[in-house]
Amino acid sequence: MSDAAVVGAGIAPGNGDLPPPAVVVRDLRHRFGSHVAVDGIDLTVKRGEVFGLLGPNGAGKTTTIRILNTLLPVQEGHVEVFGHDVSRSTMAVRRLLGYVPQQLSIEAALTGRENVSWFARLFDVPRRERRSRVDDALETMGLGDAADRIAGTYSGGMVRRLEPAQALVNRPRLLVLDEPTVGLDPIARDGVWQRVEQLRRSTGMTVIATTHYMEEADALCDRVALMHLGMLRAEGTPEQLEQEIGPDASLEDVFRHFTGGSLDDDTKGGLREVRSARRTARRLG
Ligand SMILES: Nc1ncnc2c1ncn2[C@@H]1O[C@H](COP(=O)(O)OP(=O)(O)O)[C@@H](O)[C@H]1O
Ligand SMILES: [Mg+2]
Repeated sequence: MSDAAVVGAGIAPGNGDLPPPAVVVRDLRHRFGSHVAVDGIDLTVKRGEVFGLLGPNGAGKTTTIRILNTLLPVQEGHVEVFGHDVSRSTMAVRRLLGYVPQQLSIEAALTGRENVSWFARLFDVPRRERRSRVDDALETMGLGDAADRIAGTYSGGMVRRLEPAQALVNRPRLLVLDEPTVGLDPIARDGVWQRVEQLRRSTGMTVIATTHYMEEADALCDRVALMHLGMLRAEGTPEQLEQEIGPDASLEDVFRHFTGGSLDDDTKGGLREVRSARRTARRLG
């Protein structure tokens, strides 16, 4: 499809009754020097869905979402957010987006409420709305009771719920979470996803999350795209993709099928799981 056709399809007002999708990516390519991090991907994220961008470390997930949230320029290709071309309507796109980066963004010496209030000021939330928006955001992420505790005393799972709370004070229409659960134990990971799911249900917000934990995406994303070496290998609902492979296939099996390789060790749950698997083996042996 030509660029003009894509732009027309998304942006032109009165072009049919369908509102533009949350995100449209066409033939996106991104290089860091001679290294090609994103190698020609096409992607559509529908309004109101929880979309998982999956793949091992180095696949190009963070690069892709940093382009769509305007932190990196579009070098080649076309990206639209709710019909806005990200290279031309940068400010409009930023206003629609909440972004939780992979690196921690909270201040340990402040309380949960102070951390979120700081973002409310940063985003220019009107003063008279600040208090209620901050309360809502904390409540939505299940931190109402812990709001006045110093964030340094929070568990890993609570910290990872405080970050989306920061992004929520801006009332974004699209929430982008980069590895929201990395480093958490399975129960805390589940807690983060459950809150995201509730958020989507109560607000109709669109959510994009990257993860290299296949099993949690399987349970919690409406649709997923599998990324490997800068390319998308498959896109669909987890069930669709698994059925293509065979009965009882998991998303990990799907990933192996499309990449012809194995996931990196990280994906299998990390040291913690390896240790507990070893302990179980010793007990049984
Ligand atoms: N700022 C950068 N400069 C050079 N190379 C980078 C930079 N950011 C990412 N890369 C490289 O691009 C590839 C994709 O990285 P990234 O998008 O972070 O992958 P993922 O988020 O899937 O782990 C990796 O090989 C990474 O080393
Ligand atoms: Mg990343």
